[in-house]
Amino acid sequence: MLQHGLKGVIAAETAISYIDGEKGHLVYRGLEAKDIALNYSFEEAAYFIWNGSLPSQTEVELLSEKLKKYRVLPEHMEKMLHLLPTDMEIMSVLRTLISSLGNSHFQWKPTVEEAIQLTAIIPTIIAYWHRRKAGKSPVAPHENYDHVANYLYMLTGETPSNVHVKTLETYMILTLEHGMNASTFSARVTISTESDMISAITSAIGTMKGPLHGGAPSDVTKMLNGIGRKENAESWLREKLENGERLMGFGHRVYKTKDPRALALKEKALEVGQDDPWLALALYVEETAIQLLEEYKPGRKLYTNVEFFAAAVMRSIHLEDDLFTPTFTASRIVGWTAHVLEQAERNVIFRPESQYIGQLPTLS
Ligand code: ACO
Repeated sequence: MLQHGLKGVIAAETAISYIDGEKGHLVYRGLEAKDIALNYSFEEAAYFIWNGSLPSQTEVELLSEKLKKYRVLPEHMEKMLHLLPTDMEIMSVLRTLISSLGNSHFQWKPTVEEAIQLTAIIPTIIAYWHRRKAGKSPVAPHENYDHVANYLYMLTGETPSNVHVKTLETYMILTLEHGMNASTFSARVTISTESDMISAITSAIGTMKGPLHGGAPSDVTKMLNGIGRKENAESWLREKLENGERLMGFGHRVYKTKDPRALALKEKALEVGQDDPWLALALYVEETAIQLLEEYKPGRKLYTNVEFFAAAVMRSIHLEDDLFTPTFTASRIVGWTAHVLEQAERNVIFRPESQYIGQLPTLS
């Protein structure tokens, strides 16, 4: 039976994460994602997602050492970053640079070591390009900082505050995995041909880029900037809905209640940016939009998704709009690589059918 967009189709078995879209739960390998975000570091969470068990002290130290080793930019990548035109957006730069890692070491079958290497290098590429675009010289990775602190350090060149590190770490843990979303599916389709980890992740980055998936948070800030003041919210939102446009940061294929990640990030945003007028506007727009969505799209159960409050959290730690989707990528790389490893373990090539709706010659 034809299912546009594969809605409701179960395409694979997975032990990595579970989503209850009706009740609003996200579970990573048997534990609530929000509990992991509250109690563990990014390194521990990544280890857990890749290996299925929480690491011992020695294991997490070993992982941390590897992340530090692999986050140094290879020479060819640095050269490439200078060859690419500066008007290229970061997601396209990431797609291109990650593709260039695909030397002969990366082959079928994918390994955890490759997952670590990719996770380590993505923040370095993002920070390098972000600074280059702003005409600033790059900041080399700090040899002592953990993964998330180092990312902020490479972006700003300054020692990040603990509050900013913990806020970003919470965001990155809450978004590092999310079942069979579009980009994860892309990665699994690519590896299912017995291709390699780099090709799978290059596919995923290209898929992540679009506004119906990872590209929404900067559109959320555009929307809030467009609205500007609480008094404008209702008429602005009504006009969009009258024109049949979608409100960015609302609706989800799986969640038919509030996205648990959005709830956790909202809490974080309130903690960090209590007095921020922009956040006050965001909360007002959230409430107004949910009411209007029920009026214009009754019964569709459209609520705020993770992207809405991702924008608020990233603003509160002073990350600029063009960093939103790349930062999402820097966390989701963990889930993508875990799915690639899982797919490779019990591989069946993805090859669905399509329903032909064109003309046919007379067939004998
Ligand atoms: N604003 C207005 N209407 C919406 C929205 C929205 N944000 N989302 C869905 N709808 C409406 C659709 O127009 C459709 O209406 P209809 O029944 O009259 O045709 C109905 O709700 C169902 O929409 P679908 O597109 O079938 O729902 P789907 O599950 O395919 O879409 C999606 C999910 C793509 C996330 C959608 O809600 C959307 O476009 N949201 C805005 C973009 C966004 O926030 N993306 C980030 C998603 S989170 C993430 O990927 C990490």
